[in-house]
Amino acid sequence: MTDQNLIYTGKAKDLYRTDQPGILKMVYKNQATAGNGAKKEEIPGKGVLNQAINQLIFTYLAEAGIPTHLVEVLNAREELVKEAQMFPLEVVFRNYAAGSFVKRLGVEKGTPIEDGVLEFFYKADALNDPFINDDDIRFLQVATEAELQEIKALTRRINTLLVDLFKQAGLILVDFKLEFGRTAAGEIVLADEFSPDNARLWDVETKASFDKDIFRNDEGDIIPFYEAVLSRLEALTQA
Ligand code: TMP
Repeated sequence: MTDQNLIYTGKAKDLYRTDQPGILKMVYKNQATAGNGAKKEEIPGKGVLNQAINQLIFTYLAEAGIPTHLVEVLNAREELVKEAQMFPLEVVFRNYAAGSFVKRLGVEKGTPIEDGVLEFFYKADALNDPFINDDDIRFLQVATEAELQEIKALTRRINTLLVDLFKQAGLILVDFKLEFGRTAAGEIVLADEFSPDNARLWDVETKASFDKDIFRNDEGDIIPFYEAVLSRLEALTQA
């Protein structure tokens, strides 16, 4: 496929047009970034691991009735996805205090958050992806009230499903970020990816991070930890 088909290049993935209408090809890259691109590094093997973890998660969610954009995995780095008009929102869900939540609210890292907290960040590089609320979203016409409620309900269902899955894998799902889009057929689908790049996963016993915080905090090689996440999940699904 030629570069003419490249329609979007992101920090961790590229999107290409295909011959099939309504179907795009998503390619996982090895690039890791932190601090909105301030820290950037090529990490061989990361793309393959993220795709494998994402495939497992998206398949598990789809089997539980969550609509996702995933159509077919082509190979270790490439998959076909439904074309969707993306909501310019990062939907963050938190079960325990970590990251920006700790900084913003001054609570202790690891504090459990009863019933969880759902946050929206507006995807706008020039503004540094600011925190926004429901009223801001309506004002910006980023989503309608009905779409907002659907996105929130899907996110909470996804959280319940994934907390349970990761618990079986000996991992605590601390927080994560999702992105949603609307297909031409009008369906709201979970898009982008779910991987340790955009979730915090702590070992149940040691509370050690098995996610991109290792990269963000310069704590060494992420690959063995991403491999461990994959093998723990595979052990569950193959059981
Ligand atoms: P935060 O604590 O930095 O706000 O991040 C919350 C969760 O969302 C964490 O699992 C990392 C993920 N996340 C992304 O994947 N991309 C982003 O741009 C941000 C801000 C967070």
